[in-house]
Amino acid sequence: MSLIELRGVTKSYRTGAETVTPLQELDFDVEAGSFVSLMGPSGSGKTTLLHLLAGIDQPTAGSVRIGGTAIQDLSASRLARWRARAVGYVFQQYNLIPVLTAFENVEVPLLLLRLPRHDREQRIATALAAVGLTDRAHHLPRQMSGGQQQRVAIARAIVADPVVMLADEPTGNLDREAGGATLALLRRLVDEFGKTLVMVTHDPEAAARADRIVRLDRGRIVGGVGAAEVDHA
Ligand SMILES: Nc1ncnc2c1ncn2[C@@H]1O[C@H](COP(=O)(O)OP(=O)(O)O)[C@@H](O)[C@H]1O
Ligand SMILES: [Mg+2]
Repeated sequence: MSLIELRGVTKSYRTGAETVTPLQELDFDVEAGSFVSLMGPSGSGKTTLLHLLAGIDQPTAGSVRIGGTAIQDLSASRLARWRARAVGYVFQQYNLIPVLTAFENVEVPLLLLRLPRHDREQRIATALAAVGLTDRAHHLPRQMSGGQQQRVAIARAIVADPVVMLADEPTGNLDREAGGATLALLRRLVDEFGKTLVMVTHDPEAAARADRIVRLDRGRIVGGVGAAEVDHA
């Protein structure tokens, strides 16, 4: 069994008289400890798919199983607890809280887990060390570069030690160098820490860092290849 297992997943939204269906009868599997890139044109359903994997949104039909848990069957409170422990989410715009330091931003997901303060502080220190920002712990987001802010966001995503990491165009706002460092860090989280990563990207070079590339078009998977087989020509 795969860690992530989607079967016959359809997602529709009704807006007024219209219905849009960003995902259509999707079957999608991700093995534990692997890194999958998700590519596809704008509007093809990539973010919708990440939202379903995170339990932020529910499928209209079909099932989303992660680590054997059918997440659409969880009650709202169980789902909130499951999400806090099981999923780390990284966004294009970092989404840090501007009035909190790096340390305090990384602390946010732990506040849902009711850990003793000492454990909490140790986990935050470990996460900041993993992204190479121990010396920036007491800086505010505006006192850091974009690349550093994204690394704080990654520390926040890993601090609760989730099995699944989701990243939505994590290098989209970064220059080449900071983007490269971010990708190297994400790759290392998979290789050294055994995380399972699904990353949306428009950049073929970024996508090629994954073990596998899956392409979406109009809500359907239209192809997937091993990243090594991607034609860079
Ligand atoms: N909450 C929502 N309500 C209505 N339509 C939505 C909602 N979220 C996404 N959509 C629509 O679903 C389609 C896919 O969106 P999205 O998953 O964001 O695509 P991508 O991330 O690939 O650009 C788009 O047509 C979008 O307008
Ligand atoms: Mg998107």
